[in-house]
This record gives sequence, C-alpha cells and structure tokens, in this order.
Amino acid sequence: MNILTFDSSEQLNEAGANIISGLVQTNPRAVLGLATGGTPVGIYSHLVGDYRRGLVSFRQVTTFNLDEYVGLPASHPESYSSYMQRHLFGHLDIPADRTYIPDGNAPDLEAECRRYEQLIDTAGQLDLQLLGLGHNGHIGFNEPSHALLRGTHVVTLAEETRKANARFFPTLQDVPQQAITMGVGTILQAKMIVLVVRGADKADIVHRALTGPIATECPASLLQTHPHLVVLLDKAAGSRLA
Ligand code: GLP
Repeated sequence: MNILTFDSSEQLNEAGANIISGLVQTNPRAVLGLATGGTPVGIYSHLVGDYRRGLVSFRQVTTFNLDEYVGLPASHPESYSSYMQRHLFGHLDIPADRTYIPDGNAPDLEAECRRYEQLIDTAGQLDLQLLGLGHNGHIGFNEPSHALLRGTHVVTLAEETRKANARFFPTLQDVPQQAITMGVGTILQAKMIVLVVRGADKADIVHRALTGPIATECPASLLQTHPHLVVLLDKAAGSRLA
C-alpha cells in the first residue's frame, strides 16, 4: 500500500484528480468506480478543472457509483444521482448512458442489485475505485458486521452512519434507513483502489483500517489485502500513523 499525506486539502485534491485524469489520459475507455459524501467533492471540482482546461476528456469513460439510498427520488437533492450531476457529471463530456448508479427506487431491489452487478461484470474490471471512509470503517455502505457480502446488495444503514449523514438532510428522520451498495468483493476486484480520508475525526479509524487486524467489523481493513491500494490523507487524518 502506498500512503500519501498532504499538508493542504488543495494538494490532496490535486493529487486525487491527477490519478484519475492520468488514468483516463492513458486509457480513454477507463471504467471508474466513484464515491460520494463530503470527501471527494474537492477532487471532483479539480477534475472538472482538468476537463475545462482541455487536459482530459471523459467521452468514452464508463462510471459505476458505489451506492445509492433506497427510497429517495432520483431528483431529491441528496440522492447520490443528484450529487453526481451537481459535482461531476453535469460539468463533463461524459454521456449520461455511461454513468451508472444503483436505482434505489427499483420496484424489486434484489433484482436491481443483480442487474447492477451484471452491468459491472459486462463492463469488465473497474480500472480504479475511489473510496471515502465512514467513521465506523464502512466503505461504500458496507457497514461493520460479523460477515460481509461480496456483491451488490441492500443494506440497512448503521445508526451512526445515518447520524453522520444527517448533516445533509433537514432532520435525522429524513435520512433513509436503507441503501444499495457495491459489496466489498466487487470493490476489491478493482485494479486500483484510491482511498481518500480527511479530518482529525477519522484519524483513529484510518489507523485501525490500515494497521489493525483485517476483520469484517472494520470493512476498510480488508483493503489491506489489495495489491494496488493508494491512500490519500490530509495531515489530520494521518496523524495517528507513525
Ligand atoms: C457515506 C458514503 C461513503 C462515504 C462515507 C464517508 O455515507 N456512503 O461512500 O465514503 O460515508 O462520507 P464523508 O466523505 O461525507 O465523510
């Protein structure tokens, strides 16, 4: 694993965007796994800058998002579909039909999970999976558990995850109870994983995920098994690492 710690959030954003732009420059048909949450916003805005400066085109790229809430209309401002439009897709030349996000409003959620997994299979291996990290060690919405599921599945969100995400909603009650998420197996199959973490409040979980035992109680710890893991941290998030 390659851990890079940055003095400023701007440097971290630039480094994250450079990895993605560099990949797309060398492989214009790259298949990207994308994340949401507060963490990647600065990286996405840097990528939009790269595109506007003519450094990179996303016309042939295919993307798969990690997860989506169950039961939020796609047009809801906090659906991950709206988030991706707002922060990335709406500003790039990527065709809408190459951007995939699980449908959290599908009438049959289990069938939707199978469909999504099949789409990823058909696209081939993800060339890169971008990840944030939950305070409890979740990646995507794979919550700590005595067992983790390999493929895309429906998950009931941990209370601490709903509380952490309540900042994006009017009240805690408005945060959905469930989500669809790629499984840890799907994530680990990506050729390269870029884990991005910011903030002192995540220093403990960064330490546990990267140096603690590999255990399903800390889903991010499974990333230690990946042959090509790059970790981008700000100083605060990396403060507990030697
Ligand atoms: C969210 C998302 C994850 C994200 C994580 C951290 O709930 N499902 O993909 O990485 O939790 O979020 P944030 O970046 O806002 O701290």
